[in-house]
Amino acid sequence: MNIAQALELKGEIDSYERQEAAWLLEHLLGIQAIELKLRLEQDLTEIQEQAYLDGLARIEQGEPLAYVTGSQPFWTLDLKVTHDTLVPRPDTEILVETVLKLQLDQKANVVDLGTGTGAIALALASERPEWQITATDIFQPTLDVAQENAVRNGLIRVQFCCGAWFEALSDQKFDLIVSNPPYIDPDDVHMQMLKSEPERALISDNHGMADIEIIIQQGRNWLKANGWIVLEHGYDQGKIVRDTFEQQGFQQIKTIKDYGGNDRVTLAQFYA
Ligand SMILES: C[S@@+](CC[C@H](N)C(=O)[O-])C[C@H]1O[C@@H](n2cnc3c(N)ncnc32)[C@H](O)[C@@H]1O
Repeated sequence: MNIAQALELKGEIDSYERQEAAWLLEHLLGIQAIELKLRLEQDLTEIQEQAYLDGLARIEQGEPLAYVTGSQPFWTLDLKVTHDTLVPRPDTEILVETVLKLQLDQKANVVDLGTGTGAIALALASERPEWQITATDIFQPTLDVAQENAVRNGLIRVQFCCGAWFEALSDQKFDLIVSNPPYIDPDDVHMQMLKSEPERALISDNHGMADIEIIIQQGRNWLKANGWIVLEHGYDQGKIVRDTFEQQGFQQIKTIKDYGGNDRVTLAQFYA
């Protein structure tokens, strides 16, 4: 089977399925998109062909491509992804963009709670090398992947701590707390499509709000004067997240929409 024939196994030309098949082939052959297009007549070896067919079968069974290839681009970074981590989503880049627009100290003290692959913490570290950034997660194998990603991307100043939300941290105050916590209701029908990703990364009690509430309620005590919290949340949680910030005495509360026009990130400042 040559590359053109392999591509034809999946979807129509210009479909997302065909694009995913192309990404899989690029990964397996270790080549860029442009080279794949130039080598359509090239035959796959038996090993390449088998790996390709195995990969397609995993994707068909609902596994994200990132678990098959073991990596995912995020911001300007290439991040290792395993079954211990969520696959970073493009919408989370909205949170990074939002944070980069804030006027913060040049050496701001920042924490990313529930860092997963390290996506948010490492993207911020790549843009603001002088910030003091800490990244936490409740699951050590997840944090090991994030640490590997820090080394892979040369961002070794980021510190990593394991523990449940603020319990991971020693006594200190932050200019900025960021998090993309679990926020899906355990009964949400969308969970059917997310079965291969860890539940601990996705599900939260109280209609998906339990972890967001902890971060907002406890976060006040971990902020310096005029510090910010910036949170990613569900498309239908904008109002309740704003209300929770307000109840806890935050100001400058604002929700930012994602690329699909849905509420996705809410930020708020605490005037101590
Ligand atoms: C939605 S994922 C976000 C991962 C990453 N920040 C991203 O945006 O791709 C949530 C992360 O929070 C972690 N987590 C879940 N419960 C936690 C807790 N109680 N304390 C700290 N981290 C937690 C999960 O292990 C997971 O890595």
